[in-house]
Amino acid sequence: MTRKLQNKQISVDFLVIGSGVAGLSFALKVAPYGTVAVITKKQAAESSTFYAQGGIAAVLSGEDTFQMHIKDTLIAGAGLCHPEVVSMVVKSAPERIRELLNYGVKFTRWDKNQEHLDLTKEGGHSKRRIVHAQDLTGKEIEEKLLVRVKPEKNIRIYEDHIAINLIKNTNDHTCWGAYVLDINKKAVVTFLSNLTVLATGGAGKVYLITSNPDTATGDGVAMAYRAGAQIANMEFMQFHPTCLYHPKAKSFLVSESVRGEGGILRLKDGAAFMKKYHSLKDLAPRDVVARAIDAELKRTGAECVYLDITHQPSSFIKKRFPNIYKKCLSFGINMTKEPIPVAPAAHYMCGGVKTDINGRTTIDRLYAIGELAHTGLHGANRLASNSLLEAMVYAHNASQDAILEVKDKVSFPQVKPWDSGKAVESDESIMVAHNWDEIRRLMWNYVGIVRSEKRLARAKRRIELLQQEIADYYWNFIITSDLLELRNIATVAEIIIKSAIRRKESRGLHYTIDYPTRKGQWQKDTIEEISNIENQRSS
Ligand code: FAD
Ligand code: SIN
Repeated sequence: MTRKLQNKQISVDFLVIGSGVAGLSFALKVAPYGTVAVITKKQAAESSTFYAQGGIAAVLSGEDTFQMHIKDTLIAGAGLCHPEVVSMVVKSAPERIRELLNYGVKFTRWDKNQEHLDLTKEGGHSKRRIVHAQDLTGKEIEEKLLVRVKPEKNIRIYEDHIAINLIKNTNDHTCWGAYVLDINKKAVVTFLSNLTVLATGGAGKVYLITSNPDTATGDGVAMAYRAGAQIANMEFMQFHPTCLYHPKAKSFLVSESVRGEGGILRLKDGAAFMKKYHSLKDLAPRDVVARAIDAELKRTGAECVYLDITHQPSSFIKKRFPNIYKKCLSFGINMTKEPIPVAPAAHYMCGGVKTDINGRTTIDRLYAIGELAHTGLHGANRLASNSLLEAMVYAHNASQDAILEVKDKVSFPQVKPWDSGKAVESDESIMVAHNWDEIRRLMWNYVGIVRSEKRLARAKRRIELLQQEIADYYWNFIITSDLLELRNIATVAEIIIKSAIRRKESRGLHYTIDYPTRKGQWQKDTIEEISNIENQRSS
């Protein structure tokens, strides 16, 4: 039996899709200038932001300089950072940290009088420059932002609402909002907006093993791609070297700041191996450390390596890393006495929806901020703790630009209501689950830390087949959030594969055994886009 999903319409000045640090920061700044709807697919706090551990990079000590932070970012980015963006973001960092302090964020201080911010170190940083709230930095930021956002009269948060598609009329390169599924009511809401902001975070869930929460399914990239926006550098997926290796420890990161505070990577027999790979040893840039671990795992046949910080006093470890300590202990690992078993996991999407310095995408009235954006900051490999920073800086820039843009009120064009066609309830949800698993496995096995032409070609064939099956589901069955996310991870996987195939060199996070060196002619961004507007169910 066919069943129509109900449809209602809501009009606002600003539609913000996503409630992590990027979306909430933007919403707060534009609220005095118009009505804001923040839609978010789970509870508002559930986001990568909430789980961020290490901290935010900013030049805040007399021993550090903007020039040094810029240089470290450029080195990590392996020739693909946009220098003007790096300079702007690094120089904006202290102001954004002050803003967080004003919002009431409690960063760790090192002195008795609680006057001086404690600065930690992570891979690729030449100085201690990372502000943090113990090892729970993201939770502290997300919670304080929500405390600010919730009482704002002009902001309404819609939890359990998942964006399906952007509204973009054919022949018109302008975004007018989004179709959104109210998950609990099983109804599609048409959100019309003067300005739409994608702040949907990353896409770690495209891979089998990831540090990311379940929300990270690349929805924003997939929606923007379907609407015809340019997507850049998706081959650069960052793998974090140290996720807890335990059969029951789903998505648990062991922060790079553990190495920043002296942690050493060892093999099972206790041998420290990073000196073989880089002069900065355990604090080498992340791509180098992840590849080194991958090489050691392949060489020894082991499933994990070990992160050893037992030489630090137990009291220091418990105070500095309360969250990691507690989590490890819950799996029977006492990190003050024994090394932590760790292995790499997909962690951060360096590419994304291409934007300018104000977060504007290549579609009018559509902004992209936070992890889903490609701003040019990270190049081929992100420097640790530069992403919360990027999200805050671009939320600020985009808000200032958007406030000017909405000054001139416009009338919305006629928008077709959502049409669920002849879709019926699916009795085959097991197939959706299998497709999820298949994509995540093939990406892990063929498009992981080390790639080859053969593996990428195999991945491309598989994903094309899966795309056809998923399109059948999408058109024939009533949509659910599982199905929408499946469609999105498939689209993002396809873009990653296509971009990786295009890049005939190894650079930063993209390493292929067929082209193992960096080549001058590839010192450019990889751009993917579709010209035809496909899959727009309501078009
Ligand atoms: P997110 O915080 O991921 O928020 C995305 C939001 O969009 C969520 O609310 C989600 O529910 C919503 N959403 C997604 N799709 C839809 C949809 N279709 N409809 C509606 N809502 C949707 N970076 C650092 O700089 N320092 C760190 O110490 C650090 N530690 C990290 C530790 C972990 C475990 C992880 C996973 C990441 C870490 N990162 C760190 C990266 C950083 O946390 C993220 O890049 C950053 O938080 C992204 O913020 P965001 O606002 O762009 O996205
Ligand atoms: C970490 O704490 O290791 C994560 C830092 C980051 O991803 O920037």
